[in-house]
Amino acid sequence: MEVVITTTVEDAGRVVADVVTQALHGGARVLGLATGSSPLAAYRELARRHREEGLSFAGVRAFLLDEYVGLPASHPQSYARVIRTELVDAVDLDPAGVHGPAGDAADVLAEARRYDEALRAAGPVDLQVLGIGVNGHLGFNEPGSSLASRTRVKTLTARTRQDNARFFTGADAVPRHVITQGLGTITEARHLVLTASGEHKAAAVAAAVEGPVTASCPASVLQLHPRVTVVVDEAAASGLAQAEHYRDVLAHKIAGQGY
Ligand code: GLP
Repeated sequence: MEVVITTTVEDAGRVVADVVTQALHGGARVLGLATGSSPLAAYRELARRHREEGLSFAGVRAFLLDEYVGLPASHPQSYARVIRTELVDAVDLDPAGVHGPAGDAADVLAEARRYDEALRAAGPVDLQVLGIGVNGHLGFNEPGSSLASRTRVKTLTARTRQDNARFFTGADAVPRHVITQGLGTITEARHLVLTASGEHKAAAVAAAVEGPVTASCPASVLQLHPRVTVVVDEAAASGLAQAEHYRDVLAHKIAGQGY
């Protein structure tokens, strides 16, 4: 696992954008996209590179991690809509090539299975962008999620509904159920890049990167993956016991080492 600690959120966004840019230049054709506030700085930077430097997503397909059950793609807080606003419309990604689970499907259990199959058929994902929840969740895999899980319907914790209340009229308006890629699904991607910022993420980042591999911290599954880049600002890195070592590794990188 490579851990990159940056001074500011904007710097973290640039590093994640570098990872995505390298993947695209290296021929990546399937991207995994996360929503939430964590990747926004990276998406803004990618949009700027598209506008000013000609970075192109032409021919790339993208798959979302998760979706709220009950929200149609037209709902302003559906992840389908959020990713459209935050990235797809700001670059040359073809909206028809951007996929997510249908939160308003009549049979959401079947929809989860369908989405998992679609990912299998299109995959593997070349690069998966990830955020992390305050409780260590990945996608919407809350603590207790099997590390081998596939895409399925999950129930959000009260904590996550509270955390996401800011996007709705209040916690009660946050859907109780979601469809999320499983941890086994997510870790099939060739390269995972997780980004986090702010002190409220410090404990989750430390548990994911340096704690035991456990379903109690779903993001700790990253430790089982051979290619992971964690990009965090100073505040989110403040719980890392090995922070000095990660800085040292970065300062003395040899050509071709790391992301
Ligand atoms: C959300 C998403 C996750 C995201 C996490 C952190 O609810 N389902 O994919 O990584 O929780 O959110 P944020 O980046 O807004 O802090």
